[in-house]
Amino acid sequence: MDTQVVIIGGGPSGLLLSQLLNREGIATVILERSSRAHVLSRIRAGILEWGSVEMLREAGVGARMDREGFVHDGTYLTDEDQMVHIDFHALTGKRVMVYGQTEVTQDLYRAQDAMGTTIVHGVEDVRILDLDGAQASVEYVLNGERKRLSCAYVAGCDGFHGVSRKTIPEDRRREFERVYPFGWLGILSHTPPVSDELIYANSPRGFALASMRNANLVRCYVQVPLSDKVEDWSDARFWDEFSRRLPAQAAERLVTGPSIEKSIAPLRSFVSEPLRWGRLFLVGDAAHIVPPTGAKGLNLAVSDVFYLHQALSAALKAGDETGIDGYSGRALNRIWKAMRFSWQMTTMLHRFDGEDSFAAQMRRASLRHLAESETARRDLAENYVGLPY
Ligand code: FAD
Ligand code: DHB
Repeated sequence: MDTQVVIIGGGPSGLLLSQLLNREGIATVILERSSRAHVLSRIRAGILEWGSVEMLREAGVGARMDREGFVHDGTYLTDEDQMVHIDFHALTGKRVMVYGQTEVTQDLYRAQDAMGTTIVHGVEDVRILDLDGAQASVEYVLNGERKRLSCAYVAGCDGFHGVSRKTIPEDRRREFERVYPFGWLGILSHTPPVSDELIYANSPRGFALASMRNANLVRCYVQVPLSDKVEDWSDARFWDEFSRRLPAQAAERLVTGPSIEKSIAPLRSFVSEPLRWGRLFLVGDAAHIVPPTGAKGLNLAVSDVFYLHQALSAALKAGDETGIDGYSGRALNRIWKAMRFSWQMTTMLHRFDGEDSFAAQMRRASLRHLAESETARRDLAENYVGLPY
């Protein structure tokens, strides 16, 4: 065999899986379609559950996160000017970490370089073969030349548009999907946050999220129709709309500045089952997508990696295959609960075009219930900080 595990995709799932396996003495090769600079330029998630924080520490990549990340004890949900504080720490004993996906990915690349792991960038036409044989193989094209690697297992960490999921025959997988009729327009700007904690804002004009990366770098989002283009949104228009959706006490603290990144992400809930096909395992966005409202995308990728690295390690080091047989069921159990939470947060906080007047009342009642019931706040907090692995 050329290596023990071939990992398709050098995003956070692939890198973290490789890092954990390498630390247990298991050899991996990562095949990534894009350049490293491109992977690191994608601004995505910003909130780590405590389980993810502990996983990154365990993988030996927690030092910069612990130095530069910001621990948050709670968050705000708002309905027009009413602010509901969810005190995660008081309600669950747990907290979350504000540390961008870009930073996590950069830390993992550095750690993998230090391990001497082979990460091949710029691969094309990846094909995953022989999944029901004694060993699997992966073919790819690099600089016009076709190559082939043999391995014991293949980890499909190649995101929603990757090749891994599509390798499983269509009649052997079941897909569940809900596409939402709006997207999030996000900007990054060197300005101070309006609040010490994130604000998830429900307003008659639609949803807004005030997030941050540090004391002088904010990540802010507004709900937009799917037909909108980034070019339709000047910085001035963005800040005007964003401030109108925030409660007045937060909007008056808003400092605006030029955006250094601006992009629109569509919202989707998606699960493909099962996560295993012979010697292939799906991980992270390759298998499931959540709308970003619950901050679960990256965190679910981390819990998948937790289950799979345990399973592969037992199989490769001790010949015990119970873990790999159980991987799909174990991971899906947690995935579906995060799906439910992300869907619920999305429904509670977004305005749906053409909705009836009843829908807006349901959102308001949900927020009022949260304001008045500690039980409701604890339920939200328990899900937001992350359900146990
Ligand atoms: P990815 O990060 O998608 O990594 C997959 C990697 O595989 C990529 O580097 C890709 O180039 C590579 N690849 C793809 N196809 C192939 C192939 N055929 N061969 C080789 N390599 C391939 N989550 C949140 O919690 N909050 C957010 O605000 C948020 N914003 C997001 C915005 C966008 C635009 C997107 C797409 C996602 C966002 N997410 C967010 C989700 C979160 O970023 C993902 O859940 C997370 O990136 C999943 O990591 P992953 O490694 O599984 O997949
Ligand atoms: C961020 C993104 C999210 O989807 C979320 O729920 C919280 C924060 C962010 O990019 O900072």
